[in-house]
Amino acid sequence: MTDSTFLYDDGDIDTNRSANGHLNDLIAQRYSRRQTLRGGLSAMTTAVFGGVLLAGCDDETITSEPVKVSAGSAVATTAGKTVTLQGTANTGAQSIGWVQVSGPSVTLSGTSGTTATFIAPAVSTATPLVFRFTGVGAAGDSATADTTVTVSPATLDFAAVAKNRNDLVTVPAGYTVTVLYRLGDPINASTPAYANDGTDTNFAARAGDHHDGMSFFGLAATGTSRDPAGSTRGLLVLNHENITESYLHARGQTTTGGVRPEAEAIKEIEAHGVSVIEVTRGASAWSYVQASALNRRITPNTPMAFNGPARGHALLRTLYSKDGTQGRGTINNCANGTMPWGTYATAEENWAGYFRRDRGDAAVRIAAGQAKENASLSRYGISEGRAGNYGWTTVTPSDPSSTVFRKWNATAVADAVADGTADFRHEPFQYGWIVEIDPYNPQSTPRKRTALGRMNHEGVEPSRMVAGVRPAFYMGDDAQNEYIYKFVSSTPWSASDANAADRLAVGDKYLDAGTLYVAKFNADGSGQWLALTFGSGPLTSGNATCPFADQADVLINARIAADLLGATPMDRPEWTAVNPANGEMYCTLTNNSSRSPARTDAANPRSYVDPRTDGRSNSAGNVNGHVIRLRENGDTTEAVAFTWDVYAFGSGSDLNKDNINLSGLDDSNDFSSPDGLWFSLPTNVAGQGASPVMWLQTDDGAFTDVTNNQMLAAIPGRVGDGGTKTVNNATPAGTSTATTRVGKAPGATLKRFLVGPKECEITGITSTPDGKALFVNIQHPGENGGPDNITSNWPASQGGTAASGTRPRSATIVITRQDGGLVGI
Ligand code: FEO
Ligand code: CA
Ligand code: CA
Repeated sequence: MTDSTFLYDDGDIDTNRSANGHLNDLIAQRYSRRQTLRGGLSAMTTAVFGGVLLAGCDDETITSEPVKVSAGSAVATTAGKTVTLQGTANTGAQSIGWVQVSGPSVTLSGTSGTTATFIAPAVSTATPLVFRFTGVGAAGDSATADTTVTVSPATLDFAAVAKNRNDLVTVPAGYTVTVLYRLGDPINASTPAYANDGTDTNFAARAGDHHDGMSFFGLAATGTSRDPAGSTRGLLVLNHENITESYLHARGQTTTGGVRPEAEAIKEIEAHGVSVIEVTRGASAWSYVQASALNRRITPNTPMAFNGPARGHALLRTLYSKDGTQGRGTINNCANGTMPWGTYATAEENWAGYFRRDRGDAAVRIAAGQAKENASLSRYGISEGRAGNYGWTTVTPSDPSSTVFRKWNATAVADAVADGTADFRHEPFQYGWIVEIDPYNPQSTPRKRTALGRMNHEGVEPSRMVAGVRPAFYMGDDAQNEYIYKFVSSTPWSASDANAADRLAVGDKYLDAGTLYVAKFNADGSGQWLALTFGSGPLTSGNATCPFADQADVLINARIAADLLGATPMDRPEWTAVNPANGEMYCTLTNNSSRSPARTDAANPRSYVDPRTDGRSNSAGNVNGHVIRLRENGDTTEAVAFTWDVYAFGSGSDLNKDNINLSGLDDSNDFSSPDGLWFSLPTNVAGQGASPVMWLQTDDGAFTDVTNNQMLAAIPGRVGDGGTKTVNNATPAGTSTATTRVGKAPGATLKRFLVGPKECEITGITSTPDGKALFVNIQHPGENGGPDNITSNWPASQGGTAASGTRPRSATIVITRQDGGLVGI
């Protein structure tokens, strides 16, 4: 007998029919038990058989039966699905395992058992993947079997959610919603739970209101250090754009005598800004870590630094920042950007509304020789006679030296020094920027990146990063008839910067020097990027409309510079998103009530009347919005020209298909007022391959007679995949025709994934790198109500019937698949 023959087999010697246990039966029983202990089999059998069973065997040998395996039958699936390979082996196999033989490489889990799993990879066409199951016998003999898994491109594998007006977040069957982080939730151990009755204070240690743009930054599973692939623990960074002031106080806002109480104003100010919170995936659900040392609130009072060309500029000097290099606070933070080096960029959008400017201010500036400031303030919407949102400047501070209320009054003090260092006449120039935050360092000072221009920044989306190529950052200026911009860094991308330790220094490298461009869309489907460069074209000191002093002046007055260059006024540019597969840039144009038929053009071609069914008067203009997209010439971010088309036009499915519902939307995907826009991450299959998933969120008031606001998933095509269409426009203001470029009708590649609760906006989206947890923000549910007229009870209503009188709260939710798979596909 050799060491490798353990089992007895002499052909057929089973002649003993006594009741005693037969040697073969004993061996079979032992062996069978041991089969469950694969891997340790050889050592075990040596000990047991050698020591006990073989003691009476003398000359007889024990050998195994021939190894036989099966790999299961061939299956077909789609990209992103979790595939389970199921092998079988007979008792002769003492070790088994799976390997991949061919096809796009995947990561197999459980390779040394009968069952192995993997996530079907992204593919552009049906692609076979072959896997081999091998069993090895005790004698080293083996058997193999192959199975083929054919993977087809991903589909939106869920049933479209029906439009509804329920006070709930509705998602497709098979998905779970977890409410994660609500208005007022405490972010340290010493702050009490939110009472949600208007008595709570200290929002600098609580979640702010109006959750908006959001990014996830991975942490190592066992520590607080950055792990870009971390998918079970991370930092969620999100904007708090605005407030629903009626619910923040016990009885709504106090405005007695036209004066605001200090305590109320402090709450309102601190409920704006940005949250950084640690989140973790537990055994059953995600939660935020209330006591994490990494939690942080950034508010309109947080110290900031200015970077880029406008740092230290005369227009940035204030009583607080006499040299114009420092700032204080960020406000109306709308959308965002996730920088590839691990920082968060927040966008200051409707900041202008917070400023008071008394009548007579313009005359003071003229007398001080600063007449140009009046034109600038006017172009940015800060006209004389404005009280400023929420009346914060009416507060008499308990600390007379405090300027946290006074700074919102931009009125020039008549007898103050004219350079702005004695008042807050220049404070409006300190806002309207992209602000970069290092989420991993709670002590870091956020940096306002002036090279990216000053406007109503909706968000900032980085392009794909290509080594040696200067990256681009795409931005919308969200107001009627404003523009789409891109900033192209002076610095070509270096991949090692993605993991640098000093993240804000990397931001300095890419975001402080470069060229800001604005988009011009031509009727023939082409377009140009026009450079906002001081000294070129009309952007000179000799310009009659605006004699620019320097590049900083051009950036501070980016809107005026863009006007002079002849940029195309758009239907309110909101979010930008870049398709990771091909670099094409998408931008939501949410709606435009001032787009009259006479003002339509190829890129903003619709002006029509949208009929309402709820008694409110009909709206006119581009009521439902559209999503434009562009492809850079040569597919490079450095291009100064592009081609464009419209990915989809928003519309009710019942509206005229020739002039309004140009994308042929149906009941499963009709939408209005697109706003949030985001592609799944290229770190998981939903964001990989030729056709990654795009998510579209709405902030709508025109379609709310039919449905609450919603989020759709899409698998979009490419610029130019459709054709031209001529639209006949008609409103009470007149008629026109416009010929546009519209992409292929999306059909089943655009599908409603979520409907929100009453009176909310869906905005803000990110995911874990593995794509298995999708974070979404629900902003201002019940926004039209107040303490005496509560119009939504969400999120309390998400778990069933909420207690009567429960006030609504903006909140972050997490969406996961009940089978643990990737969200959306
Ligand atoms: Fe804050 Fe343009 O949405
Ligand atoms: Ca928005
Ligand atoms: Ca909006």
